[in-house]
Amino acid sequence: SIPAPLSSSSSNRLLLAALPFNESSLPCAPPPQWLFFAIFSMPTLASMAIPEEGPVPFEDALVVIGTYLVSSPQQREEEHADLVATLPSALEANGVKKLRLYQGFWIRDIHVPAAIALQRQFEPRPDDVIVASLPKCGTTWLNALTFATMARKAYPPASADHPLRRLNPHQCLPFLEGLFKGGREAELELLPSPRLMNTHMPLPMVPSAVPGCRVVYVCRDPKDMAVSAWHFLRRLQPDLAFAVVFESVCDGAVAFGPVWDHVLSYWRASTAMPDKVLFLRYEELLRDPAKNVRKLARFIGMPFSAAEDEAGTVDSIVQLCSFGHLKGLDANKTGHLDPLLPVPRDALFRNGASGDWVNHMMPEMASHLDKIVADKMRGTGLTFQ
Ligand code: A3P
Repeated sequence: SIPAPLSSSSSNRLLLAALPFNESSLPCAPPPQWLFFAIFSMPTLASMAIPEEGPVPFEDALVVIGTYLVSSPQQREEEHADLVATLPSALEANGVKKLRLYQGFWIRDIHVPAAIALQRQFEPRPDDVIVASLPKCGTTWLNALTFATMARKAYPPASADHPLRRLNPHQCLPFLEGLFKGGREAELELLPSPRLMNTHMPLPMVPSAVPGCRVVYVCRDPKDMAVSAWHFLRRLQPDLAFAVVFESVCDGAVAFGPVWDHVLSYWRASTAMPDKVLFLRYEELLRDPAKNVRKLARFIGMPFSAAEDEAGTVDSIVQLCSFGHLKGLDANKTGHLDPLLPVPRDALFRNGASGDWVNHMMPEMASHLDKIVADKMRGTGLTFQ
């Protein structure tokens, strides 16, 4: 059945403002009746069997809100094609994706238009939370922990039908650059507050996020990140040598890198505005997940109550999001990360430990990378040793 018109809802007004449709300019213009439906018959999440308050699993929200294009992916790409073509380029270590050096960061070329759109158009709400990280530094885990913590009233972590038992953690959060790349940012406007989103972009690509909302960042020892990246990239190129990935990390030419500049962009913001950026470490999450979940809950303004302490809610969240539990779920054993990226979801759950670098690099390699990182971090107050 077609939902009732919602012209008075604030999310609908926002959407109208966000839809500068010119059908003829869209290479894949949707039919006029589709546009009418999009603008005048916008469903709300209130009409769904999911909570009116966020965060809601993005995958569930999409079932109702559908896909709304502000511009087509091709249009967004063409808009910035001339600029992108002038940027220095490099291939990712497995040779599959091209990187462009945009404002000092190696961004996948398909994401440069997204970075520009994010810089210009992303409007955070004060109660938004963004999970930010470099790939292979614990994104999946932090997505799960933050979702479980923020959404615990609507979805008790011990419940059998918790979304994280049927969805991959990445399906629960909108991925900012993915949406902005595809001209789909209007979908964000339809999500109920508080929204929970995810990005790999360095902070300069989402400048309005701080102090516009709250950001939870996770970093990881770059040596383990390099090992994790190698295993991941090998899923697309099995004969990829570890040395190639290692060198790209040392050179800085990794997606969303250089590693040190990415980490420092959030580290500096966290020291300047600790109430806006929570800076976490993968290794500390491993050491004491419960302590970090409590810290996370306080940071987002949802500390655990005495009753929750009594009920063991923190432990339930830690257990729900634990490596062993997530890895064993069908949602994380089957399917692919992205229809365009044939990497199976199980690639996100490999080892889940720290210090695996000792099994992959010679001591000289380790000290070489440690030295590069230490030099870059000097005087910042941040260390990885
Ligand atoms: P390893 O390859 O070292 O095992 P990202 O999510 O940013 O891509 O990071 C992936 C890394 O986080 C992988 O590291 C993966 O195994 C680990 N990981 C994923 N889920 C985890 C969890 N629940 N607990 C601990 N580590 C996890």
